Amino acid sequence: MAELTWNEALAVNQPEMDETHREFVDLLTRLESALDRPPAEVAPCLEELLSHTEQHFGQEERWMAAVGFAPQNCHSYQHAQILEVLREVHKRCVEQGDLENVRLLVPGLAQWFPGHALAMDAALAMTMAERGFDPATGEVQRPIEAEAVPITGCGGSSCS
Ligand SMILES: [Fe+2]
Ligand SMILES: [Fe+2]
Repeated sequence: MAELTWNEALAVNQPEMDETHREFVDLLTRLESALDRPPAEVAPCLEELLSHTEQHFGQEERWMAAVGFAPQNCHSYQHAQILEVLREVHKRCVEQGDLENVRLLVPGLAQWFPGHALAMDAALAMTMAERGFDPATGEVQRPIEAEAVPITGCGGSSCS
């Protein structure tokens, strides 16, 4: 049984974001099913997840900037922490053949993802909708006022 499977309860109702999240869940499942193989076969799955996650987070951060989030905000900070862990686990897998940390990473990400998607990503999706932001063109129908304070929170329950 996979640690995490896609289901509609994970949807944030922003089509591009949901598609990216579905791909993330698929790549995590693929990594999980490779865990009984040697490190040389696990590493490419991990690499694919890492590069997809770099693009996934990069996309959300470009959207955050477009709709008025400050460069330093807690959503981006959490992305940076996750990427740091993924890069380190990937490095150890490639350089030392370490699979122990990959075995810890898979359930860790499976546990982390729903909370992140339904708090921080959902809040971003809501802000995008409020501003009338079109990810395809980058157009913002209702831009944030020039004198408005940039958003540093994420809308998550632990954020003010
Ligand atoms: Fe996301
Ligand atoms: Fe995110």
